[in-house]
Amino acid sequence: MKTGNKKKGITMKIIMLGAPGAGKGTQAKMIAEKYTIPHISTGDIFRANIKEGTELGNKAKEYMDQGLLVPDELVVNLVVDRLTWEDAKNGYVLDGFPRTIPQAEALTAALAEKGEKVDYAIDIDVPDQNIIDRMGGRRACVACGATYHIVNIPPKKEGFCDKCGAELILRDDDKPETVKKRLDVYHEQTQPLIDYYTAEGVLKEVDGTVDMMDVFNAIVQVLGA
Ligand code: AP5
Ligand code: MG
Repeated sequence: MKTGNKKKGITMKIIMLGAPGAGKGTQAKMIAEKYTIPHISTGDIFRANIKEGTELGNKAKEYMDQGLLVPDELVVNLVVDRLTWEDAKNGYVLDGFPRTIPQAEALTAALAEKGEKVDYAIDIDVPDQNIIDRMGGRRACVACGATYHIVNIPPKKEGFCDKCGAELILRDDDKPETVKKRLDVYHEQTQPLIDYYTAEGVLKEVDGTVDMMDVFNAIVQVLGA
């Protein structure tokens, strides 16, 4: 059942933290649906730009294919601008941003200008070995971005999206050697955000190794609805 989020003065500004493959996208989609807020994924924005062959997409691809982060200056303004859209006025779920301390600081500063702050930083905790096992099995829809797992969350018809019928593919950056690099980059550059948001008093940790609906139920408990 949809809860909605229309009560005056109540916003849900949520960020998803967690290693690559921890389930940020899977959970963010469900959160967005339940609370009627937009799901803003920087990875999805970059992949859409790569597909369309835009200048941003071409630049981002150089980094993404190597498992590296796209430079902060290509990400920050894009997200800060996206947060001003009408659909984001009651909140949003940010998936894949912030990913470095400078990005987190830029977000804090942009929100502070409007007297706002992040309400919840949800860290989905999954050990590296589970991540490596998961990534090779992930399949993503070329058209709508829905994700599946060939064993854990299979589509009804193999190779095709349940939601829109388009083809499912293995992401370029889900090759094993690139996954390893992404995990190293995560530990070095993104994991420090756990301390950052703990200090801000908004960090909530959930166990991401259990069934995806159990992860979701734990998040709903945290969000208190
Ligand atoms: P992005 O697209 O954000 O990739 P990521 O963080 O590496 O995360 P993933 O999308 O791989 O994983 P996820 O946590 O969303 O997991 P999912 O739900 O799919 O970014 C890609 C690249 O873009 C980056 O490497 C970087 O280069 C660049 N980029 C993006 N944002 C940036 C930024 N802010 N700054 C700089 N660069 C940036 O789940 C994974 C799999 O597990 C799926 O198959 C799923 O079906 C399955 N699964 C999910 N939950 C469960 C469960 N509970 N049990 C079993 N299986 C599950
Ligand atoms: Mg994702």
